[in-house]
Amino acid sequence: MKLCMIGTGYVGLVSGVCFSDLGNTVYCVDKDKKKIDSLNNGIIPIYEPGLEEILKRNYKANRLIFTTDFKKAVSNSDVIFICVGTPTKRNSNSANLKYVFDVAHQLKKTISKYKIIVTKSTVPITTGDKIEKILKRLKNKKLVDVVSNPEFLREGEAIRDFIYPDRVVVGTSSKRANQTLRSLYLPIIKKTSRYFNTSRRGAEMIKYASNAFLATKISYINELANLCEKTGVDIKDVSFGMGSDERIGERFLRAGPAYGGSCFPKDTRALIDTANKFETDLSIVKNVIKSNDKRKILLTQKIEKILNKKTNNKIITFLGVTFKPNTDDMREASSIPMMNFLSKKKCKIRYFDPSGEKKELSKIKNVKFCKSISLACFKSDLIIIHTEWNVFKLLNFRKLVKKKNFSIYDMRNIYSPIKMKHMKIRYYGVGR
Ligand code: UDX
Repeated sequence: MKLCMIGTGYVGLVSGVCFSDLGNTVYCVDKDKKKIDSLNNGIIPIYEPGLEEILKRNYKANRLIFTTDFKKAVSNSDVIFICVGTPTKRNSNSANLKYVFDVAHQLKKTISKYKIIVTKSTVPITTGDKIEKILKRLKNKKLVDVVSNPEFLREGEAIRDFIYPDRVVVGTSSKRANQTLRSLYLPIIKKTSRYFNTSRRGAEMIKYASNAFLATKISYINELANLCEKTGVDIKDVSFGMGSDERIGERFLRAGPAYGGSCFPKDTRALIDTANKFETDLSIVKNVIKSNDKRKILLTQKIEKILNKKTNNKIITFLGVTFKPNTDDMREASSIPMMNFLSKKKCKIRYFDPSGEKKELSKIKNVKFCKSISLACFKSDLIIIHTEWNVFKLLNFRKLVKKKNFSIYDMRNIYSPIKMKHMKIRYYGVGR
C-alpha cells in the first residue's frame, strides 16, 4: 500500500518507518526542509532506540521517501496519516489544533481521487467531525473518508509498541476505510493484538481515556507512597501485592517523582477541556492533574528536608534528568522544577544523563552537565536518582563519591534500603 505520513515528528516518523518495514511505500512529509534534508542524509531528529537501523534499511530499499512536496506525496498515496503536533495551548487546557486544520485545508485543495484521511495524532473528541466539515465537498463526492487511528507508542519503546500493540483501534463507520486499515494492519494484528473497529469519536475517546487512566494509576500509587512513608510500609510490596491481581495489573504501578512527558500532562488537560465543553465533571482526572503537580513540590520539599534546610553551596547530583529512561525528552520532566528550586537555594547542581546535555537545563544558574557518572558524583552531598536508566542500577557510591557523609534520594526505588544500610549510606526512597 502507498501511505503518506504528514508530520515527521515522534508519531509520524516512527509510524512511517514501521509501516515501510511491513512492505508499504511511505512518503514522510514535513514542511521543515532542514528536517527533511537531515532525514535524507540519514540523520534521525529523535532519540528512539532501534529506529535508525530500520529507517536506513527501508530508505535504501526505496520504501521510505522524505519530502516537502505535500501534493506529490498525497497524490501518490492511498492513505494519508495526519501526524502533526497538537500541543496544549498556552494558559489553557485545550489542544492547539491549528496544524491539524492547516493540513485539512491543504488536503481540500489537493485531493482529486478517493483517499482515506487518518488522524494518528492525539486529537480531542469530535476533531474528526471538524476535519470532515473542512473536507465536506470531497466527502459529498465520496472522495474521502476521515478515520481516527490513535497511536499508543511509549517513548523509548515505540518500535516494540508499534509492532506488538495490545490493540489497534480504528474509528470509522466506512466499510471501505475499515477494510483498507484492517489489511494495512494485518501483518501486525496476526501476531498478538486485537483489531478493534469503533466509531470515530469512540476511537478519539479511547486514546484520551487510556492515557488519563494510566496517569491516574501512577498518581494513585504515588499518593499511596506518601502514606507508606508515614506508616513504614514499602510501596514496592504494595505495588506487587496489588498488581498480582489481574484486575489491577502490575504495570504503571511504580511510584516515582511524578509523571512527565509530552502525553500524560497534555492529554489529561485536553480531556478536562473536552469535558468542560460538554458540561461533564471529570473530578478524578482533575485531581490527578493537581496531585501530579503537587508531587513535584512535595519531593522538592523532601530534598530540602534531607539537607536539613542547609542548602547553601551543597553539591547536589542528579543521575538522570529526562522524564523517563531511553529517551532524550525533557518535556514536563520533574527534574526541571526541582533544579530551579535548588538553584534558587544556592545549591551547586551537577547532572549526568546518558542522553546527553540538556538545553532546558543550561538556562538554570549553578547547573552543570558532567560527562560521566563519576564526575557528577564526586564529593556530592546528595545524589538524586531521578530517571531509572539501566546504567544507574549497579553503582558503587562509596567509590564514586569519595566522601564519608552523603545521602542518596532514590526517586525510582532502584536500590535496596537494606543494602544501603549495610554500606552505612543515608538512603531515602519513595514510599519506603
Ligand atoms: C505514554 C503512554 O504510555 C503511551 O501509551 C502513549 O501513546 C503516550 O504516552 P510515554 O509518555 O512515552 O507514553 O511514557 P510512559 O512510559 O507512559 O511514562 C509516562 C510517565 O509516567 C513517565 O514520566 C514515567 O516515568 C512515569 N511512570 C510510568 C511512572 O512514574 N510509573 C510507572 O509505573 C510508569
